[in-house]
Amino acid sequence: MLTGKLKGNYKAINWNRVDDDVDEATWHKLTEQFWLDTRVPVSNDLKDWRELDDDHKWLVGHVFGGLTLLDTLQSQDGMASLRADAHTQHEVAVLNNIQFMESVHAKSYSTIFSTLNTPKEINEIFDWSDSEEFLQNKTKRIYNLYHNDEHPLKKKISSVFLETFLFYSGFFTPLWYLGHNKLTNVAEIIKLIIRDESVHGTYVGYKFQIQFNQLSPNEQAELKDWMYNFLYDLYENEVNYTHLLYDKTGLTDKVLTFIRYNANKALMNLGQDPMFPDTAEDVNPVVMNGISTSTVNHDFFSEVGNGYRLGNVEAMSDDDYLFGSWEDKHKNK
Ligand SMILES: [Fe+2]
Ligand SMILES: [Fe+2]
Repeated sequence: MLTGKLKGNYKAINWNRVDDDVDEATWHKLTEQFWLDTRVPVSNDLKDWRELDDDHKWLVGHVFGGLTLLDTLQSQDGMASLRADAHTQHEVAVLNNIQFMESVHAKSYSTIFSTLNTPKEINEIFDWSDSEEFLQNKTKRIYNLYHNDEHPLKKKISSVFLETFLFYSGFFTPLWYLGHNKLTNVAEIIKLIIRDESVHGTYVGYKFQIQFNQLSPNEQAELKDWMYNFLYDLYENEVNYTHLLYDKTGLTDKVLTFIRYNANKALMNLGQDPMFPDTAEDVNPVVMNGISTSTVNHDFFSEVGNGYRLGNVEAMSDDDYLFGSWEDKHKNK
C-alpha cells in the first residue's frame, strides 16, 4: 500500500473516519497498556537470584538472550514487513506502535541483565544468542519470510507463530519462577511483554483472517498445508532448542507441553484448528499459576499490570528547555 512512487495525492490519516473498528480498538488498547522496563524494580529480585544455583542462573540468562534476539527481529524487520502490506492507514499507525513496543521488549532484557549479571556474563549471553544454532535457525526462517514480498500472508503467519508460539519456550522460565513466588519483578516485565504479545498476535491474526477468507478454496487449502508444515518444522527445531536450554534443570518435558499448547493458540489466532492434543489442563499447574497471576491483566481488553509503577512525573518548567546548560541547572540542587 505505502510503497513505490506516489500516484495521485498524499492522504492525511483521519481518525474520525476509521474503516476498520479493530484498528481503533487495538490502538486504544495498546496505548492504554503502554509501559517501560525502567519502571519495574528488578533489583528487588537480587535476593532470589543469589539463591539460584549456576544451572538455573545459566537458564535464566540464556532464555532471555534468546528472547532478546526474537524481539530484535520483530522490532527491526517484523513490523516493517507487515506495514508494507497494510490495507488501512490506521493499520499502519497500529503497526508503528507495535514496532516501538518491540524495541521496548528487546531493551527490557538488557535491563534485567544489567541488574542480575556481570558484564562478562552479559557478553557471553549475547555471543551465544548471536550464534546458537537452533535459535538462529528459527530467526533466519522467519527473517527470510519477512523479506519475501511475494507472500504477504506468509509474513503474517510468521509473525503470529513467532509471537504466540516461539516466544514461549523462553517465557516458561520466568512464569515457572513466578509460580514459585520467585523473581517476581523479572516476571512482571515478562507479564507486560506477554500482555503485549497477546494483543499483537490477536491483531495480526485477525488481519490474516480477513485476507485468508478472500482466497479461493484451493488457495486456502494450499496455504493451510504450508502453514501446518511450517509450524511442524518450527516445532522440531523448538524441541532441540528446549533440550539445549532445559535438560540440565530437568524441566524439558514441562516446557514441551507448554509450547505445544501455545502452538495451538497461534493457530487459533489465525482461525485454524489445533495441531497438538495438548490443552491448558496438560500444562504444569505451577506455570498456569504464573500465567494466571499474569492473565489477571493480559487478556485483550484489560488494564495496566498490578506491579507496574507509574513514574512520579514532575511538571515541566522553563529551564527544562535549556538543553545546553544541564550542569548550570543542576549544580545548585
Ligand atoms: Fe515483543
Ligand atoms: Fe509483538
